[in-house]
Amino acid sequence: MTQDPHVVWHDQSITKQQRMDRHRHRGCVVWFTGLSGSGKSTVANSVEQKLFERGAQTFLLDGDNVRHGLCAGPNLLEPVHGKEFAARFGLGFGQQDREENIRRVGAITELFASAGLICLTAFVSPYRIDRNRVRQWVESQGEKGDFLEVFVNTPLETCIERDPKGLYQLALQGKIKNFTGISDPYEPPESAELVLAGASHPPNVLAEQVIEMLIERKVITP
Ligand code: ADX
Repeated sequence: MTQDPHVVWHDQSITKQQRMDRHRHRGCVVWFTGLSGSGKSTVANSVEQKLFERGAQTFLLDGDNVRHGLCAGPNLLEPVHGKEFAARFGLGFGQQDREENIRRVGAITELFASAGLICLTAFVSPYRIDRNRVRQWVESQGEKGDFLEVFVNTPLETCIERDPKGLYQLALQGKIKNFTGISDPYEPPESAELVLAGASHPPNVLAEQVIEMLIERKVITP
């Protein structure tokens, strides 16, 4: 893949290492994936709170929130940018739109990691290839181990029972198309750094498991 020859990379003076030294922890991406209602957002929030209390520099990107701005859908874009623009850049839930959602978010996470932050994400990110592309991008700009995938493994039946937003009910009635787990696939990770048993423990306990993983992998100190 070649870049436009007229777009040239500039090296910058402050390095990632200098930023990490200042923060006293590594900069990395902690990527939560799992079905809607699996608990990704809740656990990621709890992890961020624990890290924040330890004085770490963090940021959390959450699918539902990011889809209000960076990855807004056509309906949000149209009133401001017009129909043609909204159709071109607005994102829905088809396979290619999810690919672009994860690509944009992946690029942002790499920037945060390079800024020396622990960047947490909570996206369904159902396609293995999309998650692996982010892994490759983040590692290519940093080093191996900068992308830590956390699979929130909550059975579909539990997610349907929880149905916090009432979306499963609508999807089961055929009122939402391409709904992950119902009418759209979810591809579980094959080698996630951590698998959380989402239905077996409360979010606080799951968040502790993530903190332990971050200590083991020397992102933070005990
Ligand atoms: S992703 O697949 O592109 O990674 P993302 O995490 O941004 O999805 O958004 C998922 C959230 O959007 C879900 O938690 C749910 O609230 C909502 N949503 C709306 N439509 C769908 C759909 N068709 N499939 C999955 N989630 C949907």
